[in-house]
Amino acid sequence: MLIGKASPDDMNLHPIRYQWAYDLYNQAVRNTWFPHEIALKEDLDDWEKMTEDERHAVKFLMAFFNPAELIVNRSIALGIYPYLKSPEAHLYLAKQMWEEANHCVAFEYVLQTFPFDRENIFQLHLSVPSMAAKEEYINKYMRRMTEETLNIETMDGKKDFLRNLVATNIVMEGIWFYSGFMVALSFRQRNQLRNFGSMINWVLRDESLHLKFGMNLVHNILEENQELLTEDFAAEIRDIIIEGVNLETQYNKDLFPQGILGLNADYVNQYVQYVADRRLEELGLPKFYNATNPAKWMSTATDVYELVNFFEAQNTSYEVDGHSASVKKEEYKEPTAPAIPAGVGE
Ligand SMILES: [Fe+2]
Ligand SMILES: [Fe+2]
Repeated sequence: MLIGKASPDDMNLHPIRYQWAYDLYNQAVRNTWFPHEIALKEDLDDWEKMTEDERHAVKFLMAFFNPAELIVNRSIALGIYPYLKSPEAHLYLAKQMWEEANHCVAFEYVLQTFPFDRENIFQLHLSVPSMAAKEEYINKYMRRMTEETLNIETMDGKKDFLRNLVATNIVMEGIWFYSGFMVALSFRQRNQLRNFGSMINWVLRDESLHLKFGMNLVHNILEENQELLTEDFAAEIRDIIIEGVNLETQYNKDLFPQGILGLNADYVNQYVQYVADRRLEELGLPKFYNATNPAKWMSTATDVYELVNFFEAQNTSYEVDGHSASVKKEEYKEPTAPAIPAGVGE
């Protein structure tokens, strides 16, 4: 079983029961990257030419993402990892936690490099209601996971686990982050912030695996605990996703109080609805919004495997693996910000 109280038997990697979790761990290790390998100097030149509304959007994104990476780690450490028995799932989550730390430091690097009022940016996630509401949503589902009365062996405990997993993994990582990535990458679409865009690509590559792991976790837990497969619970999971979309819709209005060239809150929110439909379908639920993808440049792919495959094809010289890491690292050159490929974004 994936969830439950861990016993001494669970402290042995072999025999591996959940091969997908072990495979994702190995892929994640090969995807390892470091923020300071990306030089941001050209992006600073772009910054000088950007409008106040464009700068606001970048600052607002950083204000959300920097703490968000830490919140995801907290949710994994307190709400997901302790309730899993599988050692291979634990291996993956340990790597994911390092990646979230790496993303936090990557955004910290951006915050240090650009001429930002950092104190002001660090305050925004507490003082802007639409941003604080997103954090409270995550904390609401997380809070139950830290209560001593939660018993993971019971139906109620398992439902609480899935509610928190859906809020953190499907909504925060699988919808909110994708919306933010789309906005960040849209600057590169206009030939601005191209190196920042490369950094976002690498974050996105990691996040696509996080989402894949979370989706597999949900599906395997439901398969092993079929008493959870009720219409009421399915409706509740759908409502948790809709609640997350509503919060993102409000947040995007503050991200674009006036809109910027080719990008405004309505455009981004249509993308949010499109991605939310994708997540519902990936969970085996019907679409809710029937929204078309307004940002076709983000993706024509239908699943995250294609995204991973794209990066394997494009970035192999940067891929680290056990046999050739040193050689490949030496070959690595600063990313040249290729055009956004089909396959990124979902
Ligand atoms: Fe992350
Ligand atoms: Fe993540």
